[in-house]
Amino acid sequence: MRASFSKTSFLAKVAALGLICSTVAFFIYFEPPASLCLPTSTLAENKTDEAPEPAEKPIVLLWFWPIGVVFDLKKCETHFNITSCILTADRSLYSQADGVIFYHKDISWGLDNLPQEPRPYFQKWIWYNVESPTNTAKKPGLENLFNLTLSYRRDADITVRNEVTIKKTETEEEFVLPKKDKLVCWIVSNNNPATGTAARETYYRELSQHIQIDVFGVAFTGYALEFEKYYPTLESCKFYLSFENSLHKDYFVEKVNGPLVAGAVPVVMGPPRENYEQFLPSGSFIHVNDFPDAKGLAEFLQGLDKDHDAYMSYFEWRKHYKVTPHLLSMSNEFIHPVCLACDHISKYTEYHVINDLYGWYFS
Ligand SMILES: *[C@@H]1O[C@H](CO)[C@@H](O)[C@H](O)[C@H]1NC(C)=O
Ligand SMILES: *[C@@H]1O[C@H](CO)[C@@H](O)[C@H](O)[C@H]1NC(C)=O
Ligand SMILES: *[C@@H]1O[C@H](CO)[C@@H](O)[C@H](O)[C@H]1NC(C)=O
Repeated sequence: MRASFSKTSFLAKVAALGLICSTVAFFIYFEPPASLCLPTSTLAENKTDEAPEPAEKPIVLLWFWPIGVVFDLKKCETHFNITSCILTADRSLYSQADGVIFYHKDISWGLDNLPQEPRPYFQKWIWYNVESPTNTAKKPGLENLFNLTLSYRRDADITVRNEVTIKKTETEEEFVLPKKDKLVCWIVSNNNPATGTAARETYYRELSQHIQIDVFGVAFTGYALEFEKYYPTLESCKFYLSFENSLHKDYFVEKVNGPLVAGAVPVVMGPPRENYEQFLPSGSFIHVNDFPDAKGLAEFLQGLDKDHDAYMSYFEWRKHYKVTPHLLSMSNEFIHPVCLACDHISKYTEYHVINDLYGWYFS
């Protein structure tokens, strides 16, 4: 549990003292006594003597290693500069933890692998799920159990995405189109129809009748594309098929971020264009719904292939906005959300309850 509120109250006292001093100085036309009104800088310098920095950071406990994948919790510091909590997977710290993260997939149907001890009054339970509703099991008993949601959704309490951000200066880095030797590419690892992949398979087959598509990944080649080859492969393609396995609000993350980072144009299939435009500049991607069918899309892409200026217009957004690469390996996949949860717990101390988790998530 966090221990120090004294710093805040000290600063409040300084502010109040400053106000009294200036008010006194304003109404009475002489310098206020030095003993009462020390210069603010002196007070600031002595701040550490009066109220030492809180030694105790909040504890955030990762209850399960997500799907059993163990990773280095120090990466929050090295990759994301997040040091504001003590992150641990040591369950013996449960009773002291300010936040406990539960990866949805790992929760058993009977909930018997959740903590059996009572929850301390200050502790927040964090529901961590990055699967789409199609691939999320409605395990009973979780509806009113959590305090915070951690998801790709923008309306989650803790949102985990690679957001497009604004450049401070236009000159920050000039975009140079990488060398291209492929027209359309697609990397697919999962083609398990149970996860909702049928629609994109069908569309892909139709599209491939009309345009050359270079394919990679387990689903096509029987082996995964090496992590080191991911960004270079995307770079070498003019267009990249960012096809989601299931269609849900806000459910498009790495598959779009990858080509945007690499300098390829994403051709997206997922929720409607309007939803993408809440996150991405409208001219940065092509949506399959903009065309009556796969043939229409193929013709459009072939047209752009022959018209350099029209193709380059898809990179105009880079003058003002930028994207950041996402971490690739399996273990890294789970780190970013965990670090964000740590950051959140250290910043926000308000009481918070999730009612009707599924009503929100499946709506
Ligand atoms: C603050 O520290 C300085 C020495 O660094 C000392 O001279 C001064 O008296 C201290 N002020 C207070 C209010 O403790
Ligand atoms: C890390 O975060 C601290 C504040 O929390 C900031 O002062 C520092 O500049 C950051 N470092 C980097 C490398 O971003
Ligand atoms: C967390 O949520 C539970 C379940 O709704 C609630 O009983 C508890 O008071 C909440 N705690 C905090 C610190 O928000």
